[in-house]
Amino acid sequence: MGKGKDDRLSELRNLIRDHDERYYRDANPSIGDQEYDLLKQELEGLEQAIDPLGLFKTDATTPVEGEKSIPQVGDDRLESFESHRHLLPMLSLDNTYDEEEFFEFDQRLRKLFGDSDLPYVVEPKIDGVAVSLTYLNGVLETAVTRGNGIEGDVITQNLRHISSLPFDLSSFDLPDVLEVRGEIFMSHEEFSRLNDNRAQEGQPLYANPRNLAAGTVKLLDPKEAATRKLEIVLYGIGSCTPESRFSNQSEFHRAIRDWNLPTVEFLKSVPSATDAWKAIQELDQRRHGYGYPTDGAVVKLDSFEMQRIAGNTAKAPRWAIAYKFESERQETFLEEIALQVGRTGAVTPVACLRPVQLAGTTVSRASLHNADEIRRKDIRVGDFVIVEKAGEIIPQVVETVPAKRKSESVPYEFPSDCPSCSSVLIREAGETAWRCPNPGCSEQVKGRLRYFSSRSCMDIDHLGEAVIDQLVDLEKVRKASDLYELKKEDFLELDGFAGKSAENLCESIGKSKQAGLSRLLCALGIKHVGSSVAKELAGRFSSLAELANASQEDLIGMDGIGAVMAESISSYFKDPDSQSMVQQLELAGVVTTRPEVDSKDLPFSGQSFVLTGALEAFSRLEATRMIEEKGGKVSTGVSKKTSFVVAGPGAGSKLKKAQTLGVEVLSEEEFVGLLGNP
Ligand code: IVH
Repeated sequence: MGKGKDDRLSELRNLIRDHDERYYRDANPSIGDQEYDLLKQELEGLEQAIDPLGLFKTDATTPVEGEKSIPQVGDDRLESFESHRHLLPMLSLDNTYDEEEFFEFDQRLRKLFGDSDLPYVVEPKIDGVAVSLTYLNGVLETAVTRGNGIEGDVITQNLRHISSLPFDLSSFDLPDVLEVRGEIFMSHEEFSRLNDNRAQEGQPLYANPRNLAAGTVKLLDPKEAATRKLEIVLYGIGSCTPESRFSNQSEFHRAIRDWNLPTVEFLKSVPSATDAWKAIQELDQRRHGYGYPTDGAVVKLDSFEMQRIAGNTAKAPRWAIAYKFESERQETFLEEIALQVGRTGAVTPVACLRPVQLAGTTVSRASLHNADEIRRKDIRVGDFVIVEKAGEIIPQVVETVPAKRKSESVPYEFPSDCPSCSSVLIREAGETAWRCPNPGCSEQVKGRLRYFSSRSCMDIDHLGEAVIDQLVDLEKVRKASDLYELKKEDFLELDGFAGKSAENLCESIGKSKQAGLSRLLCALGIKHVGSSVAKELAGRFSSLAELANASQEDLIGMDGIGAVMAESISSYFKDPDSQSMVQQLELAGVVTTRPEVDSKDLPFSGQSFVLTGALEAFSRLEATRMIEEKGGKVSTGVSKKTSFVVAGPGAGSKLKKAQTLGVEVLSEEEFVGLLGNP
């Protein structure tokens, strides 16, 4: 083996394993699909050239010296999740971007079936997170991720709030055991909503809806998962008992649609590969109108019997192929690399591009992720670069065009100092972002103020970015509490303000004093405290002062609050700057206590509930809301302090624990009675 090839082979294997790990386990890929597929193709080409018969090919799971020991086929499993073995493995699909290769797939199958036209189905390839649902006697038993294809993580709890997903289908005639396969995804609207919140928090943006959906299904706290709207679409069959229930894919598709399971709206049965090719083109035209992201078409032999005869390779079926649509890419000129400093000090590089048309919009800015990515791709100011819309949302710089690089070009040096306040940037172990360590940095101050006044926090109308910039630049405001000291005259000094607009802004700032404890807690921008934790804290502590005096033990005892969060909350309130801000807020008349008419007078006041097993009449989220509205609390773990455990079908360890501890167990019916009859 030549040394050069050998090196590249090892490098490619490492690269692919790293990308697999980022994609499947961390849900945070740094390259697009096409770039990944090119690496895979290069690897396969090299392996073929070196070892045409595959005699010396290392097993994908056997680490070669210097390589990481993770399976080459993706594995999303995490230690903190319960594992579940799929009844039938979840295979991958062979991919192609090429018309010729698509027809070669048909040729291979024709050889097997006597060289006549074959009946196929054409479906969209959904770019989501693969899931396998097991229905036992019509009731959803488990939802499991793909994992390593053999065994995945149980994520049932995190899918309970998907309103389109029925958990109980026992009124229909389902097979006794049925694995239904599909994809979980997030709509563009939901993705934008969550990213708007991130932007306001000065946090790096999520790259695309797929990664966010993948991260959401793997949240440890189902309550947190319920705050991000997931959706599901189902297309495939896994194990089925009795086996003979369906004879082809079209029939299976009709059945799941009749049971009200969400299915793809494009499923074309065609008599030949030529017609399948036409259907692929039609799908490409229509797919942008679908509610889910698609990155290709999947062509499958329609008949299950023919699928069985064609069989599978170790990784993928021989009876199906994914034809991937080209993601839209354009070449443009990189004019500048801008650096944004967020409210937490994270410095994010952004590509400023010569405007270019991409997938129907004009793109002039694109994500560069972080300093490591710029170095890895050797992206330089003045380069021509290729931009791609990842997940059809945020444009990314994929690579540079080296042939067009000017000879005088120099590698980009990520600055060592903050572009705003010149403090030396720091990078903590395990973090990709460089941070400005100076809390007084004007960009951080502006970021914190934008966050404080944002809709999910104090919701201050008329306090836009331009106003905040001027207030900070003129040193009228250094911290959020200073906002409440401002007078109408202060605004009149700013550009664009006249009598009426100054009055309006004064009024909105004044109104925000009544925003309430939980919004205020969120607005303070304590690390790890977003709106759901803020709500939790505001439910447990009656005032900001009480929370400030709470010990870390008090905090850790709460549902959904761990050591890291408790430490962050304690250190926030120990900081003298935070203390003076809290004092200033109180003096200004900002409401820092919970209203007195609180849960004490409500029927479930002081009572805590644990929900386990399936609920029929409402989703877990709805049940939680109803309990909270009546002043009760919902926890995930059963303890002696739990007042009631509501147990539905499928309840397991929590029910047992309740019985052992002597905690009162309610059926769903009894629970409904309690709700209606306090
Ligand atoms: S069939 C054994 N159909 O794409 C057959 N898969 O890249 C495998 N996918 O693992 C699945 N849309 O998670 C099939 N209409 C569709 C699909 C689809 C998306 C996913 C699936 C698969 C992956 C392969």
